[in-house]
Amino acid sequence: MALIPFDDRDGFIWWDGKLIPWREAKLHVLSHGLHYASAVFEGERSYGGNIFKLDAHTDRLIESGRHLGFEIPFTREQINQACIDVLKANNLTDAYVRPLAWRGSEQLAVSAQHTKIHLMVACWQWPNLFGADRMQGVRLGIADWQRPHPKTAPTAAKAAGLYMIGTLSKHKAEAEGYNDALMYTWDGFVGEATGANIFFVMDGKLHTPIADCFLDGITRKTVVALAKARGIEVVERHIKPEEMAQSGEAFVTGTAAEVTPVRQIGPELTFTPGQITETLLADYEALVRMAPEDVAKHAA
Ligand SMILES: Cc1ncc(COP(=O)(O)O)c(C=O)c1O
Repeated sequence: MALIPFDDRDGFIWWDGKLIPWREAKLHVLSHGLHYASAVFEGERSYGGNIFKLDAHTDRLIESGRHLGFEIPFTREQINQACIDVLKANNLTDAYVRPLAWRGSEQLAVSAQHTKIHLMVACWQWPNLFGADRMQGVRLGIADWQRPHPKTAPTAAKAAGLYMIGTLSKHKAEAEGYNDALMYTWDGFVGEATGANIFFVMDGKLHTPIADCFLDGITRKTVVALAKARGIEVVERHIKPEEMAQSGEAFVTGTAAEVTPVRQIGPELTFTPGQITETLLADYEALVRMAPEDVAKHAA
């Protein structure tokens, strides 16, 4: 696969209030965010020029920063505008948008009270996390790493440091021929994939793990609202791994993954996308292409 490195592309990146040429968006190696993972980010998607649920993403970014003990020095409106401006500057309407806030270089030790907080927003074309074959369903291996207890890490934040175990889990899954990994929670229940939440159809109802130690995805909440609007009962609960065998239909949700059917979990469990997956997938695809004011009416 020919990789185009992310530091060698054409276009513009928004950095601390200004749009700068893509290749000039370089960071000093002695940055706190790099050494101590004092960084939070967002993953957003623009469809037809509208960033889906932009306010919700910006609010989560600001909150993620607060979970890590810092205040992003831009308002919600300024951050929203930065996302819109960077898309325009790169002539993109259908794209992935990545804001990131991090602690700077003023201090390089555990204590970092006087570091400057920076913010950048980049965007690029990224059709789907799982690529063109995703409709056949993805295969998930079981991760060795488990989602940490909320008292051991700021698990509600979309914080860079939480992705360390995600990358390790995904690499192991890929080495074993899977598309992604399913991570259990610290107490052994089903958690989520490395960058997406998970749903199971059981007895005609939709079951999804309670997001009490991992990211409560914006797509997850959207799909819950879409299901309820269709009269599908949604059960948020702790799901034991052995219960997955009772489900014949499963899918993952996330901004990058969108709604993607699951075909297999671990060596033995197989799933077939059925009516509920297909309905919610179609409803999600229709919703993301609506004007922002209509999105609010259909799925809060
Ligand atoms: C670990 C993790 N869980 C879940 C999600 C899904 O979140 P969202 O639907 O807000 O994109 C993501 C993606 O951002 C993620 O990285």
